[in-house]
Amino acid sequence: DASDGPSGDLLAWYDVHARVLPWRTGPEERRAGVRPDPYRVWLSEIMLQQTTVAAVRAYFRAFTERWPTVQALAEAEDDAVMAEWAGLGYYARARNLLKCARVVAREHGGDFPDTVEGLRALPGIGPYTAAAVAAIAFDRPAVVVDGNVERVMARLHGVETPLPAAKKELTALAAALTPQERPGDHAQAVMDLGATICTPRNPACGLCPWRAPCVARAAGIAAELPRKSPK
Ligand code: ADE
Repeated sequence: DASDGPSGDLLAWYDVHARVLPWRTGPEERRAGVRPDPYRVWLSEIMLQQTTVAAVRAYFRAFTERWPTVQALAEAEDDAVMAEWAGLGYYARARNLLKCARVVAREHGGDFPDTVEGLRALPGIGPYTAAAVAAIAFDRPAVVVDGNVERVMARLHGVETPLPAAKKELTALAAALTPQERPGDHAQAVMDLGATICTPRNPACGLCPWRAPCVARAAGIAAELPRKSPK
């Protein structure tokens, strides 16, 4: 049962401390089991690659006001989308965004595929984005690993192998922690933990739902992990 053990502690923390973000459902909806709109989850994940949550908010609002559905985005003029994207950088991402919207609208009737494999087949969707959308939008127990998740796993388990060599081990540890119950909330909870508590510098270990099992904290080396190989 996910209410026991570390994943239950994390979900209980998330129920109280989840960041309120425009692509997420609110606490009431979460309690009622309402899933967020896959279009909004996909759009946010593309925007959040190499861009901070703070910077993405305004762009996300502008996009979803102008193009509230994937069908609407699919019908947009290329130039209009590139103009709204201006400032986010990485313009290849915006071109792939449009390509993907058009494939979903024309070949999938406007419904995003609800599996990692189906999502991976779409333009511009790599392993991270496929896992994030499958977990967050469809509650699939996909293993979502980004830099935040690697840091949290390295500390929780006291992995001293430096990155990038530790990547496989950290992914396996993240997989072992992914619960069958509420995997989408779990994925977002690890992201929030990494963004607000288990931060790269000065982690707020006293506030962490995983302070008891955290190996790095016990060893007094939380802020030193993950180690990195010299370039
Ligand atoms: N960073 C990447 N994806 C995110 C999400 N869904 N919520 C918060 N931060 C994120």
